[in-house]
Amino acid sequence: MLDSSGPPLSAGMLEMSLREPPPASLGSWGLLLLSLLLAPLACPACPAPCECSEPARTVKCVLKELSAVPAEIPRYTRNLFITGNQIAHISSRDFQGLPNLVTLSLANNRISAVESQAFSALPSLRYLDLSNNRLATIHPDAFNSRNNSIRELNLSRSLYNSSAIRPVAAAIVQGGFRSLSKLELTNNEIVYLPLGMFSSLRSLRHLDLRNNSLVDIKNSTFAGLDLEHLDLTLNALKTLRIEALAELGRQLRLRLFLRDNPFVCNCDIEDLVSWLNQSQQVADVEKLACVFPRHLQNTSLMDLAGAELGCHTSQHRKNTLQTSYVFLGVVLGIIGVVFLFVLYLNRRGIKTWVNSTRDACRNFMEEYRYRYEIDSDPRVTQVSTLDI
Ligand SMILES: *[C@@H]1O[C@H](CO)[C@@H](O)[C@H](O)[C@H]1NC(C)=O
Ligand SMILES: *[C@@H]1O[C@H](CO)[C@@H](O)[C@H](O)[C@H]1NC(C)=O
Ligand SMILES: *[C@@H]1O[C@H](CO)[C@@H](O)[C@H](O)[C@H]1NC(C)=O
Ligand SMILES: *[C@@H]1O[C@H](CO)[C@@H](O)[C@H](O)[C@H]1NC(C)=O
Ligand SMILES: *[C@@H]1O[C@H](CO)[C@@H](O)[C@H](O)[C@H]1NC(C)=O
Ligand SMILES: *[C@@H]1O[C@H](CO)[C@@H](O)[C@H](O)[C@H]1NC(C)=O
Ligand SMILES: *[C@@H]1O[C@H](CO)[C@@H](O)[C@H](O)[C@H]1NC(C)=O
Repeated sequence: MLDSSGPPLSAGMLEMSLREPPPASLGSWGLLLLSLLLAPLACPACPAPCECSEPARTVKCVLKELSAVPAEIPRYTRNLFITGNQIAHISSRDFQGLPNLVTLSLANNRISAVESQAFSALPSLRYLDLSNNRLATIHPDAFNSRNNSIRELNLSRSLYNSSAIRPVAAAIVQGGFRSLSKLELTNNEIVYLPLGMFSSLRSLRHLDLRNNSLVDIKNSTFAGLDLEHLDLTLNALKTLRIEALAELGRQLRLRLFLRDNPFVCNCDIEDLVSWLNQSQQVADVEKLACVFPRHLQNTSLMDLAGAELGCHTSQHRKNTLQTSYVFLGVVLGIIGVVFLFVLYLNRRGIKTWVNSTRDACRNFMEEYRYRYEIDSDPRVTQVSTLDI
């Protein structure tokens, strides 16, 4: 504890004494002397591969093949860029003694694991960039801290694969993000958004989900938020359901972006088309077009007349067809039952009829055999042909 608090304190005093003309009091002279003596120890060192600028309060360790966060980052640092390295793991000990750190970028690394409370020693942190990483195992308390004050979180192209959305969603839910106003989740191949993933983000205004593979938006997905900018371009949405549209309609300041989705122009898109017709919220409404079916490809959703979908007429026809099949079935059933009933009532008559038919048959057969025998008699045949 003494080690970590000692040097920064004297660094601060050194800074003060170098900037301001020393006041002419004995105590201050003593302090100056003390800080001069401590100067070699207190000089805010710059970690070897990094570049530090004290006036700009900025430290950059860019493209240095670092495999871990460097130790002894100067306490004055407000902006820290450790980008384009090979860092794979962020632990809770990596960022200590940086009370002034506002911006932290860890973009373009190979971060796959983030431990519990990884950023909790950074009380001033506002901007956190984890884009272009390989997040796979993220502790649910990774972002959690007593006072999470992060305002912007960049998770673009940061998931290892689409399964990583589950731990990331859990870490967002449990992160205690009271001030998060901007969240970027672009280019992540996300197929679905876990239920309630955004529900705790009361300050969220700007949500970017561009270039994922979202197939459906549930009405609970953005429920209770008050978004101003929601980007869903380049996803896999075939339509949006009326409940989800109603939820978005409730967010009065929202600008929604929907282009480059594979809209399927069948009856399921009717609700969306009529919603688009009366909503002012979709910023790129002119760019929305059908992808299927083929004869409607590239037709603007705004130009789709109700007749082209032909939902109501075909629905009607289908219904009448179904009704007539049912009717036919009932009629056939009744006829069958009546027939069986008639058979039952006439069972005696039928028996007699069967017997008499059998007798008639027998007689007929006998007669036939007789005639056959005569026919096959050569003499008789001869006689008859001679007659003709
Ligand atoms: C977030 O990261 C992506 C990818 O690195 C980058 O293009 C984008 O500009 C970043 N957003 C902000 C606000 O810096
Ligand atoms: C949390 O942060 C806010 C602003 O960043 C500050 O006003 C508040 O005092 C902090 N609360 C605690 C418990 O640190
Ligand atoms: C994502 O990667 C993990 C770890 O390699 C694997 O277990 C999981 O099946 C992968 N998920 C997908 C959708 O590929
Ligand atoms: C979309 O994201 C994928 C990675 O998930 C990337 O390869 C592709 O270039 C991105 N496309 C656009 C247009 O940004
Ligand atoms: C979502 O829609 C269903 C009906 O489709 C409704 O029962 C449910 O209450 C809705 N949920 C929210 C959060 O609006
Ligand atoms: C769009 O709204 C107008 C009136 O505002 C209406 O005349 C028109 O039929 C609607 N079109 C569709 C496809 O709903
Ligand atoms: C629709 O537009 C795309 C890209 O502009 C084009 O490749 C395709 O041939 C068009 N299809 C039709 C049916 O016009």
